[in-house]
Amino acid sequence: MSDHDVLPLLDQTSAAVSDAIRRARPELAEADPVVRRSEHADFQANAALALAKRASIKPADLAAELVAALDSDYLEAVEVSGPGFLNIKLPDRVVWGQVAARLADSRLGVASPQSGCRTVVDYSAPNIAKEMHVGHLRTTIIGDSLVRVLGFLGAEVIRQNHLGDWGTQFGMLIQYLDEHPETAWHHDELAGDTSTVSALDTLYREARAKFDNDTGFADRARARVVALQGGDPETLAKWKDIVAESEFAFREIYDRLGVQLTAEDSVGESFYNPMLADTIAELEDTGIVVESDDALVIYSQEVTGPDDQPVPLMLRKRDGGFGYDTTDLATIRYRIRDVKADRMLYVVDSRQALHFRLIFEAARRAGWLTDEVEATHVPFGTVLGPDGKPFKTRAGGTVRLTDLLDDAVARARAIVAEKNPGFSADLLDQIAEQAGIGAVKYADLSNSRVKDYTFDVDRMVAFVGDTGVYLQYAHARIRSILRKAGDTDARIDPTPPLEPAERTLALELDAYGAVLTDVGVTLEPHKLCGYLFGLARAFTGFYEACPVIQAEEPTRSNRLALCRLTANTLSHGLDVLGIAAPERM
Ligand code: ARG
Repeated sequence: MSDHDVLPLLDQTSAAVSDAIRRARPELAEADPVVRRSEHADFQANAALALAKRASIKPADLAAELVAALDSDYLEAVEVSGPGFLNIKLPDRVVWGQVAARLADSRLGVASPQSGCRTVVDYSAPNIAKEMHVGHLRTTIIGDSLVRVLGFLGAEVIRQNHLGDWGTQFGMLIQYLDEHPETAWHHDELAGDTSTVSALDTLYREARAKFDNDTGFADRARARVVALQGGDPETLAKWKDIVAESEFAFREIYDRLGVQLTAEDSVGESFYNPMLADTIAELEDTGIVVESDDALVIYSQEVTGPDDQPVPLMLRKRDGGFGYDTTDLATIRYRIRDVKADRMLYVVDSRQALHFRLIFEAARRAGWLTDEVEATHVPFGTVLGPDGKPFKTRAGGTVRLTDLLDDAVARARAIVAEKNPGFSADLLDQIAEQAGIGAVKYADLSNSRVKDYTFDVDRMVAFVGDTGVYLQYAHARIRSILRKAGDTDARIDPTPPLEPAERTLALELDAYGAVLTDVGVTLEPHKLCGYLFGLARAFTGFYEACPVIQAEEPTRSNRLALCRLTANTLSHGLDVLGIAAPERM
C-alpha cells in the first residue's frame, strides 16, 4: 500500500495557478487553470486565454495579473508568451525532490483513484471442449491487463471467466463419447502435445457428422440433451469431467501467458441455469416481455434492424430452450444484485456490441441497472493475418493459441541468442519465453484497442521499434548500468542544476500516475504502452547526453537515481501490462 501519494508536478502547478486565479480574480476561482506539459518550458497554463472573455479583459493583461499573483517560491520563472500563455519553469530542487519522493514510495508515488470500486471484469471466456484460438487472445490479454491496472489503482476487482460450458452440443458429445469408450481424450491418456480440448474438438466434429448422417444416433443424442438438462446424474458426471478436463487445458495456456485467472474465477454459463426461470419471471412482471411466434422476446426501444423493426433479445426460443441472451440477462442481474458490482466490464469482441447494448438496455428497463452502476462493453478489433483478413492458418483453419505462442517464442529465441552468444541454453529458454510471450502481448496491447491489427511475428519480436522486446531490453540495459555502477541506493542531492535531458526524463517519469489513472477510466492499455515507449526513448536521450558512471558526485548519484526510477517505472508498467521484465537480455 501507499506510504503517501506524491502529487504530480503537473497537479502541483495546476494548484499554484488556481491559487493565483483565486487571488487575482476571486470570481473565477473555480475555473480550470488548463495546465499542460510544454515544449518551451516545464508546463504551460492557458488559463488567461480561456478566461479572458469571462473577465472582460485582454488575455495578455489577465496573464500579467496571474504572473503577479503566482507563488514565486514554488515556481522558478514564469513568462507570458504569444497572446497570453504562461510558460512555467519549476526550480531544479523541486524537480529533484519529486524524483526522490517517487523513488522512496513503494507505489512510485501513484495514487489510488479507484479505491473501493467493486469492479467485475468479464474476460477470456473460452468455450468448453473447444480449443482456445487466436480469437481468445485479445480478450484474455486486454482483460488481464485491465484487471492489473484497476487493481493497482485500488479497485476491488472480481475476475469472471464466463466459460461457454452449457448447451445442447454437450448432449451430442457425451453420447458420442459413451459410444466410443476406446477413444482417449483425458490429458493423462494423450500423447505429446495433443491437448484434451484439441481431442474433444475433433471428437465433437465426428459426433456432429454422425448426428447429420445417422438418425438413430441423432435420436440418442437428443435424448442425451434432455438427460443433461434434466440433471441425470451419470450424464452430469460426464459433463463435469469434460468441463474439468477443458479447464485443465485452458490453465496451461493461462499459466504460459501469465494471466491471473484462476479456477475460482470460472463462473461459466451453467452457473446461471438455476436462475433463468426466475430471471424471466421477473422480466415478465415488469411488462417488457412479448410473446412472438411461441418465443419470448424483449424488443429494443433504442435499436432497429435493417427492416426498421425493433431488434429482439431472445429470452426463450420456440422449442423452450434458453440461449446466450437469457444467460447474460441472468448474469447481469446476478452481478448487480449478488456480487454488488459498482462497475461491470465486458471485455468481448466488438462484433458483440449489439448484444451488450440490448442486454444493458433490458437490464435498465427491468430496473436492475441504475445510474449508480456502470455497465460497459469493452470492445476490441480483430487480429488479422498478413493478407489483411481475419488471421487463419495457411490451410485456412483457425490458428491455435499454443501454435501462435510457440512460433513467437522460437523467433524470440533466435533473436536473443544472436545478441547474447554467451547465454546458456537454460537462460536462453527462459528469456526467449519471456520475450516471445511478452512480444505477443505487447503487440496486442499497444495497438489501439478498438482497431483491427495485423499479426506480424517478425515485427513483434524485433529489438527495435515499438515492441515488447525493445521495452524489455531498455529495462534490462538500465539494470545492467545499475549493476556496473554498484548501485548503492544513493541519495539525491537537490542542489545541482538539471541538464535539459535530465529534466525531460524527470518530468516524463512524473507523468506515470496520470497515465495509469487515464487507463483506469478509458480502459485503453495502449496508452500505457505509448507512455512506456516514450519513457524508454526519453531515457535513451538522457543516457546519450549525460554520462552516468563516469560523472562526478553528486551528479553521479543523482543520475543513478534517475536510472533507478526509470527502471522501476518500466518494470512496473510492464508488470501491469502482464509482461515480464527480465534483469538481463
Ligand atoms: N464465450 C463467449 C464467446 O466465445 C464469450 C462470452 C463473453 N461474456 C459474456 N458475458 N457474454 O463468444
